[in-house]
Amino acid sequence: MTSTLNQLKARFDKAFTAAFGADLTGTDPMLVLATNPKFGDYQSNAAMSLAKKLGMKPRDIALRVVENLEISDICQPPEIAGPGFINLTLKPAYLESQLTAMQSDSRLGVPLAENPQRVVVDFSSPNIAKEMHVGHLRSTIIGDSIARILEFFGHDVLRLNHVGDWGTQFGMLIAYLREVYPEALTTANALDIGDLVAFYKKAKQRFDEDEIFQETARQEVVKLQAGAEDTRRAWQLLCEQSRREFQVIYDWLDINLTERGESFYNPLLAAVVEDLEKTGLLVENQGAKCVFLDGFSNKEGEPLPLIVKKSDGGYNYATTDLAALRYRIEKDGATRIIYVTDSGQSSHFAQFFQVAKRAGWLPENVEIVHVPFGLVLGEDGKKIKTRAGDTVRLKDLLNEAIERAEKDLQTRLKEEGRTEEEGFIKNVAKVVGLSAVKYADLSQNRNSNYIFSFDKMLALQGNTAPYMLYAYVRVQGIGRKGEIDFDTVGDEAKVVLTEESELTLAKHLLQLTEILNGVEIDLLPHRLCEYLFELSKKFNQFYEQCPVLKSKDGSAFDESQRMSRLMVCDLTAKTLKLGLSLLGISVVDRM
Ligand code: ARG
Repeated sequence: MTSTLNQLKARFDKAFTAAFGADLTGTDPMLVLATNPKFGDYQSNAAMSLAKKLGMKPRDIALRVVENLEISDICQPPEIAGPGFINLTLKPAYLESQLTAMQSDSRLGVPLAENPQRVVVDFSSPNIAKEMHVGHLRSTIIGDSIARILEFFGHDVLRLNHVGDWGTQFGMLIAYLREVYPEALTTANALDIGDLVAFYKKAKQRFDEDEIFQETARQEVVKLQAGAEDTRRAWQLLCEQSRREFQVIYDWLDINLTERGESFYNPLLAAVVEDLEKTGLLVENQGAKCVFLDGFSNKEGEPLPLIVKKSDGGYNYATTDLAALRYRIEKDGATRIIYVTDSGQSSHFAQFFQVAKRAGWLPENVEIVHVPFGLVLGEDGKKIKTRAGDTVRLKDLLNEAIERAEKDLQTRLKEEGRTEEEGFIKNVAKVVGLSAVKYADLSQNRNSNYIFSFDKMLALQGNTAPYMLYAYVRVQGIGRKGEIDFDTVGDEAKVVLTEESELTLAKHLLQLTEILNGVEIDLLPHRLCEYLFELSKKFNQFYEQCPVLKSKDGSAFDESQRMSRLMVCDLTAKTLKLGLSLLGISVVDRM
């Protein structure tokens, strides 16, 4: 199915050509959704911007366009307003046929991408032996949703976990591991050292206090680099321990990721520096090798270098990212590479992107994008902390969401006089709790900071996961009450739209493709959330005004209308389910 917007665009293109000749073929009709329903559904603003080029009054341009515009199968006769806006109102018959087509399509009318790409989404990416913090949670949730949306369009997505599993801190950790668990290095395949973060702290304390230990740690780094067997094994044990802890979170959140950490690129780092040397960009500065950046300067106004080899000979985060970029282009064949991290890393990305471009490592057909996001704040507006002032552990945070969801559910069950089985309660609480956390994150424009509030995200009202899930459950309830098999409703019925709220809902349903096309490009999942929130609201208005199962006063109810409305309900539920699944959120039939 071609989206309404794209159909209209094609018709305008023909009209431009017919009215003004081939010169204007391909002119952007500047079509947008009408801001106010009284102006119709879509509006073209092109006439104003063509005035100069054509040497005509915008209104006259609009008139000529409209004379040549063949859209009578889609819209009512267009209206020209103000200086030259062209207002379009969709015909009910068009909406009816589109909805019927959407209903019978498993993709709900969303076409696959015409040119599927190989895309890398680099997300989550916590650091070994350190806490996976709320920033990583945001990256995980946003990155997963972006990957799901791109996959839905048929892109070949490689979901990469660029874990921080390399660096000098491992010298300290391995040296400490040797002291406290010497046996682990020779016997264990896996190790249970409990809390790895506490282990890290103790190792750090030991490192700071003891110079001999510092030297041992440094030697461990050298041994690790050289590939000494027992040092490597210790490193692996530490990574394995972290991996198990991260996996708990990924399992809860249903996140699929391929781990390819920084260590993977270690053998490729020397070549990055060598090849940079060949480009002539590399400069030696106080013993370090670096590239001076265009457009970046320090406080004194001096140009800023991007260091790729430190004076001690070591490589760093940027060198690794350059190596990873080359690998993803050359070996993975990626043509779009997306990095999801907090906006604090924006300059890091801008800097190594620049070096890659200037070095000629970025083919024209490859797009690299940093997808930044803001901070997670506590209800006091400051960086989120526990009541005791510690950093929040993700496991605790997710657990609390589930516990609170269960409490809310218990209260509601009591109010409604319902009794439910333990299994039902546990499942609903888990889905609602985790969805609430994901949705609260995704529904905000990712560029801004957001306040983490359990009360807000778990509320049944407002732009929340529970509100959305409830709209879905409502439709399933209608189905149960009317003993409807939604799978077969579409076979016999045709959509007939009569009431205002029904038409409004239909128009909104048909915008799904346009919205998803937008997110595919701008990678802003909150636009999908807004769409779903509007959908739930419009559905609730429809449901209040339009009887579905039987007429309000008990009079005879036209069977074809009943079937049509059931189809609209079903389509709403399917759209909610699809939309939520693209946010990584699953639905329940009852709650
Ligand atoms: N490990 C990094 C951190 O915790 C994030 C890595 C993001 N990906 C990348 N290719 N630099 O901040």
